[in-house]
Amino acid sequence: MSSKALVRIFVGGMSLLLISCQGDSPARQQSSDGAVIKPADSRRDVHSYANPEQVRVRHLDLDCELLFDRRVIRGTSTLTLDKAASGEHALQLDTRELKILRTETSADGSAFTIVPFKLDAPDKYLGSRLSVPVSAGTTKVRIEYESSPSASGVQWLDPSQTAGKKHPYVFTQSQAIHARSWIPLQDSPAVRITYTARIRTPIELRAVMSAEQDSNTARSGDYKFNMPQPIPPYLIALAAGDIAFKSLGERTGVYTEPSMLEKAARELADTEKMIVATEKLYGPYRWGRYDILVLPPSFPIGGMENPRLTFATPTILAGDKSLVSLIAHELAHSWSGNLVTNATWSDFWLNEGFTTYLERRIVEAVYGRPREEMEAVLGRQGLEKEMAGMEARDQILHVDLAGRDPDEGFTGVPYEKGALFLRQLEETFGRDRFDAFLKGYFDHFAFQSITTADFEAYLKANLQDSAPVLAARVPVTEWITKPGLPASAPRPQSDAFARVETQANAWLKAETPASKLQTRQWTTQEWLHFLNFLPKELTRDQMQQLDQAFGLTKIGNAEIAHVWLLTSIRNKYDPADARLEEYLTSIGRQKLIKPLYEELVKTPEGRQRAKMIFEKARPGYHPIAAAAVEKIVK
Ligand code: BES
Ligand code: ZN
Repeated sequence: MSSKALVRIFVGGMSLLLISCQGDSPARQQSSDGAVIKPADSRRDVHSYANPEQVRVRHLDLDCELLFDRRVIRGTSTLTLDKAASGEHALQLDTRELKILRTETSADGSAFTIVPFKLDAPDKYLGSRLSVPVSAGTTKVRIEYESSPSASGVQWLDPSQTAGKKHPYVFTQSQAIHARSWIPLQDSPAVRITYTARIRTPIELRAVMSAEQDSNTARSGDYKFNMPQPIPPYLIALAAGDIAFKSLGERTGVYTEPSMLEKAARELADTEKMIVATEKLYGPYRWGRYDILVLPPSFPIGGMENPRLTFATPTILAGDKSLVSLIAHELAHSWSGNLVTNATWSDFWLNEGFTTYLERRIVEAVYGRPREEMEAVLGRQGLEKEMAGMEARDQILHVDLAGRDPDEGFTGVPYEKGALFLRQLEETFGRDRFDAFLKGYFDHFAFQSITTADFEAYLKANLQDSAPVLAARVPVTEWITKPGLPASAPRPQSDAFARVETQANAWLKAETPASKLQTRQWTTQEWLHFLNFLPKELTRDQMQQLDQAFGLTKIGNAEIAHVWLLTSIRNKYDPADARLEEYLTSIGRQKLIKPLYEELVKTPEGRQRAKMIFEKARPGYHPIAAAAVEKIVK
């Protein structure tokens, strides 16, 4: 039987039948004697072998060396247990492709005894379970290990793949379940830990981590880090290379290769403003400093919200700050994600939907409502396009990822559908009320990992129950458990885009030549909308007109170039061929390269080209990006 409660309420003489928004979540299912049953199922992390209910890790001390010649991280992971072990259960850890050299346990933290370990055969997605026996009174477990050169969470770069071309570089990307490929630990977002680390590198390199560090450290080849707040393991991050630092403000700064430092600092100059705007809305920034590491172009994603040190793709350096909503996004995770964390990867939308909503609010506060509107329209358009080709089960916010790689949940659904859901709550309950609700939510769940059911219960108690008439307008259960978008989903509007459409239509009807269109004030978002708005098929002459008038093949802005190259492949516009090859061999961000390969393979000649380009580009791609592209072209 469903736990949905039908509630009839009377408003001004009208009777409304409400379906309680509690949904089917086990969180509030009641047993026959009325006792609330523990939400065991929705809280269980199917992507980890860890057994935190029995033995829980609370601190990691990492001590390792970066062996660039072998592409290996070698060292020890010392795990502090939450309370002394009972001795009944072994400690179960997650590993992937790790070579385990030795395991030891200690009762007092100083004298360690070697114990035998068991490393299971690997599962395709989860890696290998590592069991370490712990006896009664064990407080620490030390694992000596080496990562594999093909570790899924580590990319090693040759000097040729860096801007400076002189020094090698390495960086990690742990989300969703790749921390286990470079550190043996309980790799579940429900297990929050503090960490300390000591990292040895060649002396000419500098290491940085998602933790407290001294930005003025001289290069010593020996670096120390401390993360005093409990974080989920997917936020542990490390990079090392020829990395310089420039301060942007009292608590913000940028790390990147020396030749990119000035450009990055100019682009990211508004970071402190963004922090101030977010604090005003959602309460204090609780992580001390907020620095940004701008990575080499092979970084496989746009950005990663590693605490105190966001990792970002250099493709946001457009020269005009037009792509910094990505920084607003990663900064927003300091509240939604890092402070209040998804307990399992099925709850990923709690991280990304909230963050996309916050991102738009920050953009509005710092750059104005028209810019926010454009980004929101692009967001909904992208979501609709993506969902059109997507299985129904993947269109659900509370997605079922059992038996799958959690990276498969990295689609537009948790982001844009999640953000539209919160936008509807805001528009329905009003901004003041909703802002207060969100601020309270971040306070209430600070430093906790929560499930969708936890959110639903909090929403009911703190927003819906106080205004049942308004609550009736938001189909919460449909948002969370059904594919597609509710009919009442918000439709963001942009006047600026309406003007873009007027211009585009004038050109399409041959009323105005491309060179006479009023595009002078256009920002990146307007260009993206202009190109997206054009019909799929354009004549060669039309392509040439656009290219001549606006120099699109030569454009440096990575997002505009992406859409132009897609258009060019679709319309067999060969003057852009060389640019396409250059683009695909110099950028490794999956969101920008995968759609281009997908468009190429639609024709036999295109597939040939895709294979040829991939062969050249592959050494520069992150292992995950390479695997994804391989799947497309083969
Ligand atoms: N946390 C994500 C990146 C991520 C998600 C990595 C899932 C691995 C698995 C990050 O905050 C993010 O969403 N990045 C976006 C940029 C953003 C502006 C939408 C990206 O990389 O495209
Ligand atoms: Zn995000």
